[in-house]
Amino acid sequence: MVRTTEPERADTGDKARKEPHHHHEVFSAEKAGQLDTRFRRLLYRPDILAERLVKPGDNILDFGCGPGFFTREFAKRAGDNGKVIAVDLQEGMLRILKEKMEHEGLLHRVVIHQCRPDSIGLPPGYDGTVDVACAIFVVHEVPNPAKLFFEISRLLRPGGLFFYTEPFYVVSGREFREHLKEAETAGFEVVERHLFFLNRAAHLRKAV
Ligand SMILES: C[S@@+](CC[C@H](N)C(=O)[O-])C[C@H]1O[C@@H](n2cnc3c(N)ncnc32)[C@H](O)[C@@H]1O
Repeated sequence: MVRTTEPERADTGDKARKEPHHHHEVFSAEKAGQLDTRFRRLLYRPDILAERLVKPGDNILDFGCGPGFFTREFAKRAGDNGKVIAVDLQEGMLRILKEKMEHEGLLHRVVIHQCRPDSIGLPPGYDGTVDVACAIFVVHEVPNPAKLFFEISRLLRPGGLFFYTEPFYVVSGREFREHLKEAETAGFEVVERHLFFLNRAAHLRKAV
């Protein structure tokens, strides 16, 4: 994965810099604009991430999608035979995502789902249908990560990929390792641990 010296929060404004992000604090939809900037595009290269994770025709779960910064690239890469299931807690985030995808002609490739804080809650018909799941800068906001990993595992097909990343300044190395153990309990194998532009990250695979 490409690395940079810029931390995850470098794209946030002065106000956000004065108010560091904490565990279980949900990133407000009022600050959604900070998540989809030109600077952040250069920093994280969501297009390259999509190219690495997604194949045309894949079904992708973008858990904690926010205003669609990564969703957009996943949808472009998935093509007309694929789908992105964009899941978020906040209606405000999903509203922005919907407008954006509509404007960019990608909405037909996106399923938008508002979840509860403690459960993804997709209908059972989605179980085993996801090829690639992503949880990007969100798990530290979730009340019960162990439960979330079980839900993601259930949605993935056997052998499906799970890309998981957390901001290094919010989640310690130790905590990230503990979460990886919880993910293993939920049926994942850790394929690789690496840095996603300084942030803690791992590729996991659902056991076949
Ligand atoms: C820091 S933002 C990251 C958004 C996006 N992944 C990105 O990197 O551009 C975290 C997102 O996770 C969502 N979120 C927080 N807790 C959640 C939960 N329990 N279930 C689903 N989404 C949640 C927030 O609403 C917010 O949109």
